[in-house]
Amino acid sequence: MTNNKNKKISGFSKLDKKEKIDWVIRNYFDHTKDSLATLKKYWNNDDKLQNIHDEFIENAISNFYLPYGIAPNFKINNNIYCVPMAIEESSVVAAAAKSARFWIDRGGFRATVVTKKKLGHVHFLWKGIHTEELQNFFHHIKTKFFTQTEGLTDNMRKRGGGIIDVQLIDKTSDIDNYYQIEASFDTCDAMGANFINTVLEKMAKILEEEIFHSTLSHPNVEIIMCILSNYTPECLVRCEVNAPIKSMVSGTDISPQIFAEKFLRAIEIAETQVYRAVTHNKGIMNGIDSVIVATGNDYRAVEACAHAYAGRSGQYRSLTHAEISNGELSFWIEIPIALGTVGGITKLHPMVKFSHHLLGNPNAEDLMKITAAVGLAQNFSALRSLTTTGIQKGHMKMHLLNVLNQLEATKEEKIKMIEHFKNDVAHHNKIVQALNDLRKKS
Ligand code: MEV
Repeated sequence: MTNNKNKKISGFSKLDKKEKIDWVIRNYFDHTKDSLATLKKYWNNDDKLQNIHDEFIENAISNFYLPYGIAPNFKINNNIYCVPMAIEESSVVAAAAKSARFWIDRGGFRATVVTKKKLGHVHFLWKGIHTEELQNFFHHIKTKFFTQTEGLTDNMRKRGGGIIDVQLIDKTSDIDNYYQIEASFDTCDAMGANFINTVLEKMAKILEEEIFHSTLSHPNVEIIMCILSNYTPECLVRCEVNAPIKSMVSGTDISPQIFAEKFLRAIEIAETQVYRAVTHNKGIMNGIDSVIVATGNDYRAVEACAHAYAGRSGQYRSLTHAEISNGELSFWIEIPIALGTVGGITKLHPMVKFSHHLLGNPNAEDLMKITAAVGLAQNFSALRSLTTTGIQKGHMKMHLLNVLNQLEATKEEKIKMIEHFKNDVAHHNKIVQALNDLRKKS
C-alpha cells in the first residue's frame, strides 16, 4: 500500500511548473533524479514553443509524444494526398498506406459531404401547464434569438455560416416540465464549439428575460444548461471505393472471387454482431483518430458521435458497408465527422500546421472527406488481413521492433531479427527465444 498521507493538495494549479514537478516527484517517485530526467527529456529546447504547449492545458509538466507517420498515395476525388497520422499502434499507418496503394490503381476513393449542420441546446424547465402557451410565445419571440445574437454571429455570418434555425422542443414526455431550445448552426470551417456554446448561453439569457417580462401564466424558466451536442449525424460524410472483383487480388493464393465473398461476409458479420461490430469500428477509428490528432481536432467528440451513430438503429452496427453487384465489389463508409480547419490549436501547434500544409490546407469539408477515406482504407486493410492471412502476421511484423526495443536489441540484432521473422508470425516468446539464440551464437 502506498502512503497517501502527503498526497492531498490544495492550490496545486497555483504552483509554478518547477514547484508542481517537485511536488509530484517527491510524493510519487523514489528515484527522483531519473523521474525528473524523464520529464525534462521531453521538454522542447525552444522555450517559446514549450511555453505554447504549457499553456494548452492546466498543470502541464512535460510533453507526451506520439509517433507522427505519413500514409502517401491517398487518391481521393482525383487528388493525391499524403496523409499525416499521429498514433502509437504499430501497424496502423502501414495498413492505411497499404490500402491507399491498393486503391490508387483502382480509381481511388470518392467522397462527398452529405450534410454539415451542428446542433446545440438550451435545456430548461418551464412549469406552466399548457405547452401550447409556451409554443405560441416561442414563435412570437423566435426572431429575437437571431437579432439579439447578431453581435456574436457577425463574423460567422460574413463567412457564410451562423444560426440556421431555432426550435422549441417539447420534452415533457421524457422529464416533467423539460423543454429545449434547439439551435442548428453552420460553423463553416471551424469546429465551432466555443461559437455554439457562446451563442447558446446568450439564447438562454434572451429566453429568461423574454419569459420574465411576458404575460405567460408562468413567467419563469429554470435554465439547466446550455451546450452544443457532439452528436452530429448531420455532419455526414460518405466515402466509397469500388472495383471489378477480378482485380481484388488479396496478396495470397485465395482467388479474387473467394476473397470478395469472404470480405462481404465479414462486413455482414459486423453489421449484425455487436461483438464484432465494436472491434470492426475500432479499427476504422484507428485511422480516423490518428488523422484527427495530427490535424489538431477533437477525437473524443468524433469517437463519441461515431459510436452513437453506429447504434442509431437501436443495435450497434458496422460503420462500413459492402455489396457485390455486376461483378464489382463496392465498399463504403458513412460516418459523421465534425472537423475544423480554423480555430482551436490549428494555428498554434507547429505539427498541426505542418499537417494542414501537407494536406494542401484543406477546408473542413475536404478534411472530413480525407478522414473518412482513411477510415475506410484502414477497415479495408484490416478485413483483407483478417479474411486471408490473419491479422497477426502484419501486426506482429510491425510490433517486432517494439519487442526488440524492450529487449534492448542493437541495430545489427534488429536487422537479423527482421530477416529471421520475414516469413514467420512473430510472437513475444518466439522473439525472446530467437534473440537469445542470436546472442548466444555471437
Ligand atoms: C486493431 O487495432 C484493429 C483491428 O482489430 C480491427 C478489426 O478487427 O477490424 C485489426
